[in-house]
Amino acid sequence: MKGAERMSAIVESQTLAMAERVRRLKNAGKQVYSFTLGEPDFDTPPVIRRAAVQAMENGYTHYPPVAGLPELRQALCAHFRDAYGLQYTSEQIVVSTGAKQSLFNLFMALVNPGDEVVIPAPYWVSYLPMVQMAGGKPVWITATTQKNYKITPEDLETAFTPKTKLFLFNSPSNPTGMVYSPEEVRALARVLERHEHVFVVSDEIYALVRFEGDYLSLGAVDALRERTATVNGASKAFAMTGWRVGWMGAPQWVADLCVRCQGQVTSGANAIAQMAVVAGLENLDCIEPMKAAFQRRCRRALQILDVPFLTVPRPQGAFYLYPDVSSLFGKRAPDGRAINDCEDVAEYLIERAGVVTVPGTGFGTREHIRISFAVADQTLEDGLTRMVEALADLR
Ligand SMILES: Cc1ncc(COP(=O)(O)O)c(C=O)c1O
Repeated sequence: MKGAERMSAIVESQTLAMAERVRRLKNAGKQVYSFTLGEPDFDTPPVIRRAAVQAMENGYTHYPPVAGLPELRQALCAHFRDAYGLQYTSEQIVVSTGAKQSLFNLFMALVNPGDEVVIPAPYWVSYLPMVQMAGGKPVWITATTQKNYKITPEDLETAFTPKTKLFLFNSPSNPTGMVYSPEEVRALARVLERHEHVFVVSDEIYALVRFEGDYLSLGAVDALRERTATVNGASKAFAMTGWRVGWMGAPQWVADLCVRCQGQVTSGANAIAQMAVVAGLENLDCIEPMKAAFQRRCRRALQILDVPFLTVPRPQGAFYLYPDVSSLFGKRAPDGRAINDCEDVAEYLIERAGVVTVPGTGFGTREHIRISFAVADQTLEDGLTRMVEALADLR
């Protein structure tokens, strides 16, 4: 017996593969500095945890409506409006089991076999496999280190064809931490405006984890209101990765299709967790201490990595650095091994320094490694110092 054809192109997530590597090294008693995981190292804030206990006591233990509890959809409707100027009614909001499911619902609801989905690279690891599972054809536009990993309106214009169905946008970005300025968003929106057959999916899961600058949500641009789905979730901002709650706002017809899809797969997201997210939205200041820690670590990491052989554009949000390591290609490790791409660099760092990063290949580039700074300050200090020392040993 063989598995289904559709799985042949689906690879294991590189981030999870590296996390598994960390587990194995630790079990073998090795000193490991792991910068792999895209999750806050904080526990969920107490005000949110207490709301979950209360929800259980209050009987939120039954199947919730597929699209989400009315309490949460109303709170999200207000949050979309107040934080981003997005005008979704609560009927247009669909709550899911993580933003991952929101995205998957959207691809299943909108993409026909052969439809093209335009994705700026570097991109988050799961976009490609999800689009492929829905039968779509990912088309990516690579933004270089020199362009601060941001695509230009010209890049976008050339990527669109009559077959383009979706444009998938992610700012703040995983893996680069880059945030498009309102002017840059408006410039991309002007291109999108001219291509009326293209629907927009804007993944804004890191929007509350920003350190500087103004923010403009693509769906808040007038011309795109009727054809943008905005995805967000509780995992990153509220340190709620294990609770599995994400959501999206979309035009009614798209929201209805997503509800139909989700209703046959998982039904409504965990009711207790949904009520906990309501408490998070009502107490947004619980995010601030975490955000301050990310910002502090980001500054410190940039200081440590300020060496001639690395190029590290400064992130404006999320909790990742995406150093360009290509100046090291062609060098040799002290044991004679050749370093030719980011996977060689990542492997060398594990063996030489016990430092685990994620090679850029899973994010669509070969010149970079991803470092998550959602780690304790001491791990950051010691691990990155060892990393720089090890890289300086390459000849
Ligand atoms: C860019 C991006 N989108 C979506 C997700 C999915 O988040 P979740 O399913 O935990 O809500 C992640 C998680 O790593 C992410 O980095």
